[in-house]
This record gives sequence, structure tokens and C-alpha cells, in this order.
Amino acid sequence: MDKYISIKDLEDAALEVLPKATRDYYKSGATDEFTLAENKRAFQRIRIRPKCLVGIKGCELKTTVLGETVSMPIAIAPSAMQRMAHPDGETANVKAAQTKGVVYTLSTISTSSIEEVAEAAPNALKWFQLYIYNDREITKKLVQRAEKAGFKALLLTVDTPLFGVRRADVRNKFNLPKHLNLANFEGDMSTKIHESGEGSGLNHYVSGLFDKGLTWDAIKWLKSITKLPIVAKGVLRGDDAVRAVEAGCAAVLVSNHGARQLDGVPATIEALPEVVSALRGRDVEVYMDGGVSTGTDVYKALAIGAKMVFVGRPALWGLAVGGQAGVEKMLDIFRSELEYTLQLAGTPDVAQVTRDMVKHESEYAKL
Ligand SMILES: Cc1cc2nc3c(=O)[nH]c(=O)nc-3n(C[C@H](O)[C@H](O)[C@H](O)COP(=O)(O)O)c2cc1C
Repeated sequence: MDKYISIKDLEDAALEVLPKATRDYYKSGATDEFTLAENKRAFQRIRIRPKCLVGIKGCELKTTVLGETVSMPIAIAPSAMQRMAHPDGETANVKAAQTKGVVYTLSTISTSSIEEVAEAAPNALKWFQLYIYNDREITKKLVQRAEKAGFKALLLTVDTPLFGVRRADVRNKFNLPKHLNLANFEGDMSTKIHESGEGSGLNHYVSGLFDKGLTWDAIKWLKSITKLPIVAKGVLRGDDAVRAVEAGCAAVLVSNHGARQLDGVPATIEALPEVVSALRGRDVEVYMDGGVSTGTDVYKALAIGAKMVFVGRPALWGLAVGGQAGVEKMLDIFRSELEYTLQLAGTPDVAQVTRDMVKHESEYAKL
């Protein structure tokens, strides 16, 4: 693992080892992939303003999220079907999260079940990502199983009435490899994505089964069936963030789904200030994901007001390259880069990373 110095190194290595259909599925964004590129470019337009001679004595990355301590403010985002990246899939990923003390989020459409993941890493801080199916009984059962298995929060994905168009998946007629199953549905409904003949099999699956008619009332329904805190994942506007909180969410995750839904939406780091300012004064946490690939990206998100960031693809690259060890390497790289950034910026504790530590490049261009 020593040869991997950056997240980009892991990505390059992963893209070499993954089979074409999986590689395309993991790396694609929606349509022209404008927002996919912007998710990264927008970070580069933000400048860090370091403080000098602050007297560094140590470096503290620990923080709390929804009342639980994490070793650093970087979590693993939910991504579907991780056994396509490595035979141990989600179970390797969650073990890495356990070893490194960060949140692991399991996708509804995973290739390891809720119970398998809980058993693989009983001491990991685990959150469950939920898609609400037309069949509410099936959905309710997922929520109750996650709660029973010790998951500590539900991330309701709110940006997916249907799946975005990922052109490579359409061309590849993307489907789950035959030897794998959507493990959470064993005994309840098909664990396969049926051959659609045309286009992406996954898009047909989603259109057939996900509840497209969802409104913010879904949060009230969820609160009637679970005590777990609910995080709205996929918010890009201040008014939606307020709606989420007024409906009962404990936190909001600013996300454009890794730029895989609607192309042309803002980069998430650009959407973050609007959401942070709309929720100012309320007792809720704000997170973000999308394009985070260096320690300085994490730092910029914290400065703008995120309590924690999530990483999606970087975990898949780590998994593809080396299973659990690869994901641990990914987390080690982020930790080390964040430690450097915190100290060089003169704010050696994540709690000191305030809004004045960054400026948009346009403010410098005014000179
Ligand atoms: C291959 C892949 C599968 C994903 N599957 C899900 C999913 O099942 N549920 C969900 O809410 N988000 C899903 N996402 C979105 C991620 O949770 C996250 O928002 C996104 O990956 C963050 O961007 P990043 O990949 O640039 O870090 C997926 C993303 C990727 C790349």
C-alpha cells in the first residue's frame, strides 16, 4: 500500500483493475458530466487563509456527529453494490471504518445485508441509507432491521425520484453481475435487477420500485416507525434544508449524489454556504459530499460550515485496490493530509476551523 500517496493514486490504480462495466458505473456522472467536473473544480476556487505563529502543540481531528465521537470528520458515503469492487464488498469497507473510527454508511441496494455488515464490524459507527420503495412494508422492515442491528442514523436520500442518466451505463446495459445479490431483499422480493433489454438495468429497477411520489411527509412517516435520527441526503437549497428540519430531520447532507442525478446543478461546495446560512441558529448538523479528494477539500468544507464530509468514490477506489487495507489506506491519506492542512493553516484543532479561514478566489481577483 505504500506506493499510494494520494487519493488520485488509488483512483488510477482502481480504474486499471476494475472490469469495464463496474468502472464505468462507479466513475460516471449524469449526462455531460459538467457537474461531475465542477464538484472538484469548485474546491480549487476556494483559498485557505493561514494564520502564522499560533504555537502548534498538537493536532486534534476528533469531533462528534449526532452525539457520537468520530476520530475525524470524514465518513464513508453510501454507495451501492460494493462486492463489484472487491469480493468482500461492504464488509471490508465497514471493517476499515471500524479500525479508523469513522462513520460507515450502508446503501439500501448493497450486496451485503444489514445483518452481515453489523456482524462484520459490531463496534463501527454505522448509519443506514434508505430509499423508500412503493412497498412501504418492505421499506419499514429495512428500517427496523437497521435499528435492531445497531445502526445509529438513517440517511434518507431525497434526490432520487428516479435515477439520473449515466450514459456509460445505458451503453453497457448496466446490470448487477450474475453471482451477486441485492442482499437486503433476500426472502422479501427479488434480489436481482431484471434484464431490461434496453438501457441501464439499474434505472429500470429504480423506476419500477422506488416511490417517486415522495414528499417531506415521508419524514413524519419514518419518525412514526423509528427512533433513529434522520438525515436528509441530497439537499442543494436553503429552503429545502429548512423544510427537512421542520419535517423533523436531525441533520442535512448537502449532496448532488456524486453528480450522478441532474447535470448542471451546483458543485456541492458551492451549495453549502446557502444551506449553512439557511440553518443558522437551529440545532442541526450540516454535512457535505461530492468531489472531496484531498485534505484541503475537507478543510474548506469544514470552514464553510460542514460538521463532517462524506467520501463516496474514494472508498470504492480503496476497496478495489486492496479490500479493507485499501479503504484503510484511503482514510490514512485523508487523515494525514488533513493533519498537515490544520497545522499549516494555524488551526490545529478541527473546532478552530472557522468561516474566516477561507475566501472565494473572486475576492482576491478584485484587487
Ligand atoms: C457508484 C456509486 C454508487 C452510489 N450509490 C448510492 C446509493 O446507493 N445511495 C445513495 O444515497 N447515494 C449513492 N451514491 C452517492 C454517494 O452516496 C455520494 O453522495 C457521492 O458518491 C459523493 O461524491 P464522491 O463520489 O465524489 O465522493 C453513489 C455514488 C457512487 C459513485
